[in-house]
Amino acid sequence: MRVIAIDGPAGSGKSTVGRLLAERLGLTYLDTGAMYRAVAFAAIRGGVDPVDAGPVAQLAQRIDLQLGNGTVVVDGVDASVEIRGPEVSRAVSTVAANPDVRAEMRSRQRAWAAERGGGVIEGRDIGSVVFPDAVLKVYLTADPEVRAQRRAKEMTDLAYDSVAADLARRDAADQGRSHSPLVEAEDAVVLDTTGMGIEEVLDHLVALVEERSAAREESSG
Ligand code: CDP
Repeated sequence: MRVIAIDGPAGSGKSTVGRLLAERLGLTYLDTGAMYRAVAFAAIRGGVDPVDAGPVAQLAQRIDLQLGNGTVVVDGVDASVEIRGPEVSRAVSTVAANPDVRAEMRSRQRAWAAERGGGVIEGRDIGSVVFPDAVLKVYLTADPEVRAQRRAKEMTDLAYDSVAADLARRDAADQGRSHSPLVEAEDAVVLDTTGMGIEEVLDHLVALVEERSAAREESSG
């Protein structure tokens, strides 16, 4: 199995980089943040309070999740737009701190990768917890102001200040939680993309993947 793990804080460019890297390498791409967002969406829609750990965990185990190319369908309802909205963004860190929700998502992510022989997988705990044997672990980061600017540009209906506040709050929650917090895996390549363009980041990562894959083949053969 060939997994490329991309972790990092909100707005660090994981989705853009992950999608394009998968294209270049001919692998499939999985946005695990969309999975946690989908659980938060389902809770809100079902009138379940995100802090009610038991009911939220049951819901996570029960829901049908269809992740497509930028689309997310939750129990037959297209949630692609709503999962990116402020209401879900407010609830998602609480849902993601729930250990039973994490266990369920982890097993779905592993099954997804096993079915495809790997892929480019993006999130917070992919290299550190879900796929410790990933061929390459990347920790993408950038200055908080740059990350907020990038995100504010994508979300044209939200002001910079509210985007910056949301990212800062989620980063603190994701780094501070007790189950699978956002950390740099010990063997991760840390890449600060503050002053880097997408192409530059991609070229660097493709070169690293090729190097790692060749080294693996040599050591196994
Ligand atoms: O795209 P953005 O960086 O805003 O966040 P995301 O990747 O969509 O993830 C949304 C939230 O899901 C994060 O703030 C985390 O709380 C949670 N998450 C997680 O806990 N573990 C993952 N592997 C992916 C996301």
